[in-house]
Amino acid sequence: MSIMKKKKNRDYELIGVQILQCFKFRHHHQRRRRLLPLLSAVSGCLLLLFAVMSFLSPPIATPHRRHLTLINTSITKGIEVHMNVDQEKVFRVPMSGGRLGRELWSSNQSNFFYGCSNASHGFSTAEMNTEPNRYLLIATSGGLNQQRTGITDAVVAAYILNATLVVPKLDQKSFWKDASNFSEIFDVEWFIKYLSKDVKIIKQLPEEVGKIITTRAPRKCNEKCYQTRILPIFSKKRVQAVQLTKFDYRLSNRLDIDLQKLRCRVNYHALRFTDPILEMGHKLVQRMRAKSKHFIALHLRFESDMLAFSGCYYGGGAKEIKQLSAIRKRWKTLHTKNPEKERRHGKCPLSPEEVGLMLRGLGYGNEVHIYVASGQVYNGEETLAPLKALFPNFHTKETIATKEELAQFSSYSARMAALDFIVCDQSDVFVTNNNGNMAKILAGRRRYFGHKPTIRPNAKKLYGLFLNRDNMTWEEFGSRVRTSQIGFMGDPNEVKPGRGEFHENPISCICNNEEDKSSSTDNDNNNNSELEVFSDDDEQETEYAEDDDNYVWNQWREEKI
Ligand SMILES: *[C@@H]1O[C@H](CO)[C@@H](O)[C@H](O)[C@H]1NC(C)=O
Ligand SMILES: *[C@@H]1O[C@H](CO)[C@@H](O)[C@H](O)[C@H]1NC(C)=O
Ligand SMILES: *[C@@H]1O[C@H](CO)[C@@H](O)[C@H](O)[C@H]1NC(C)=O
Ligand SMILES: *[C@@H]1O[C@H](CO)[C@@H](O)[C@H](O)[C@H]1NC(C)=O
Ligand SMILES: *[C@@H]1O[C@H](CO)[C@@H](O)[C@H](O)[C@H]1NC(C)=O
Ligand SMILES: *[C@@H]1O[C@H](CO)[C@@H](O)[C@H](O)[C@H]1NC(C)=O
Ligand SMILES: *[C@@H]1O[C@H](CO)[C@@H](O)[C@H](O)[C@H]1NC(C)=O
Repeated sequence: MSIMKKKKNRDYELIGVQILQCFKFRHHHQRRRRLLPLLSAVSGCLLLLFAVMSFLSPPIATPHRRHLTLINTSITKGIEVHMNVDQEKVFRVPMSGGRLGRELWSSNQSNFFYGCSNASHGFSTAEMNTEPNRYLLIATSGGLNQQRTGITDAVVAAYILNATLVVPKLDQKSFWKDASNFSEIFDVEWFIKYLSKDVKIIKQLPEEVGKIITTRAPRKCNEKCYQTRILPIFSKKRVQAVQLTKFDYRLSNRLDIDLQKLRCRVNYHALRFTDPILEMGHKLVQRMRAKSKHFIALHLRFESDMLAFSGCYYGGGAKEIKQLSAIRKRWKTLHTKNPEKERRHGKCPLSPEEVGLMLRGLGYGNEVHIYVASGQVYNGEETLAPLKALFPNFHTKETIATKEELAQFSSYSARMAALDFIVCDQSDVFVTNNNGNMAKILAGRRRYFGHKPTIRPNAKKLYGLFLNRDNMTWEEFGSRVRTSQIGFMGDPNEVKPGRGEFHENPISCICNNEEDKSSSTDNDNNNNSELEVFSDDDEQETEYAEDDDNYVWNQWREEKI
């Protein structure tokens, strides 16, 4: 619970928020070592307890209570974070971002790059390719952004198969349960027209079409894979249509450059939200701009079920452990995880407080306006309080739009997500605390449209900083935050070719002004020889993505069902 207090105290003015219930991420390994053998010795029902305890580790028997007090000191113009009441440790966070010499609102050298997704001369057209009586039906899967990847890839799959694509069916049964169909989210006429040279797209399967076979494409299927696994189905007797279900991430990251460019045409040009969504989204953006010249958009994922699924621990003591482990039981097949290890490996989303400290460290002062897109944040206001104290100009679509304005969207999760998508896309700086589909899609999109700064926490490196922050001055902390974030700011060329998913790093569609205008920056891609090695310890981005059936960020909602 956040308590707002106004209290004069010498030259301090207490503006902030007192967060109780904030424990340190300190671990008591010895204690744990003694506990484990004891527990393992006990069989039967104690195994359950063991499972719970391992999840709970680090044990919380003697948590350090982090009493976080944010104080506006009129002398230093700072905020003080009292880390630990007993030891009187104080972490002084300045109100201002300081002068760092870093450009806060644009990426270095971004003006040398531009999105380029036109087809090459040799790219054959729909007119030449489309086989009569060969129809591809697609059913997408997941939330709005996961479906977006599916739609994008569906067009490319249809191109590979020389098939006519029927406008993809949206997933209306996923966790998000949005009954909207394609044409209620996306401008379907524009979609069909924009892609007409590439793939023939129709709204509905003609009635006279013969047999339809329903199947699934393998994950990350490449061109050859579509030709050997899906194409032969069309030559079976009387089959004229193939329906591919659960269509998400069914197309390889590595494709011929012209197919990658087709992906970009779909994702960045052909997929346009319907007018009512676009208008409301732009209204929200205008309202943010009216408040200040620049703004940050934060996509914050901190819902209780996601935290439970992640196996991370956020210092909330016994209460948090009890709540999250209860939720965790919903997934029958989850392995127990060591929260400390998860965190060390950068797999835990930053808490709102950590996001705030990272942003301040990067140089964003408390005058900056933040638009926050989030679901139900675990422990709500209590969890958000430190972020709000660091960034008092805190907005959401609910605070900058009226209930009436949002009424036509609010009962449709995908339309609400679309509004956040637009504001995050248009923001000067986009920040996420997670590596989910929306973060990835927007990261790629913002690269394509001019490398707009996109800050994705290097959670692995920041972990150590947050852990030891009470041993550092602010200057040291800030400087180390800035160092840790090099390569995670959305700057040009920060991701090596072939790394990450294509949707987050559409390198074949980014061209360099300085070089030949027609050539892409990605030479590896021209002869389809992207690096085979995908996973890399330093690149946290790839870690979740490559493990097909364990997308922590993408599939946890699905697994619940
Ligand atoms: C912090 O203190 C200064 C000086 O007393 C005051 O002008 C400013 O409004 C205070 N800021 C907040 C957020 O209360
Ligand atoms: C921008 O990049 C160039 C070349 O990499 C570098 O020399 C320069 O210092 C950078 N500028 C800033 C402000 O970071
Ligand atoms: C891509 O095609 C569009 C429309 O045909 C054209 O206006 C644009 O200049 C082309 N871009 C490049 C980089 O060739
Ligand atoms: C698609 O059409 C082109 C042009 O007619 C042809 O070269 C290619 O082999 C066809 N591919 C498939 C999978 O039918
Ligand atoms: C999509 O929904 C709208 C409104 O409910 C409806 O008019 C339209 O026919 C639907 N389109 C399809 C392809 O089902
Ligand atoms: C912080 O500093 C104290 C005293 O210098 C030291 O004992 C402790 O190990 C340090 N903690 C960390 C995490 O570095
Ligand atoms: C890809 O192109 C590079 C440079 O043109 C060449 O050295 C390499 O052998 C090619 N790789 C393949 C697999 O064709």
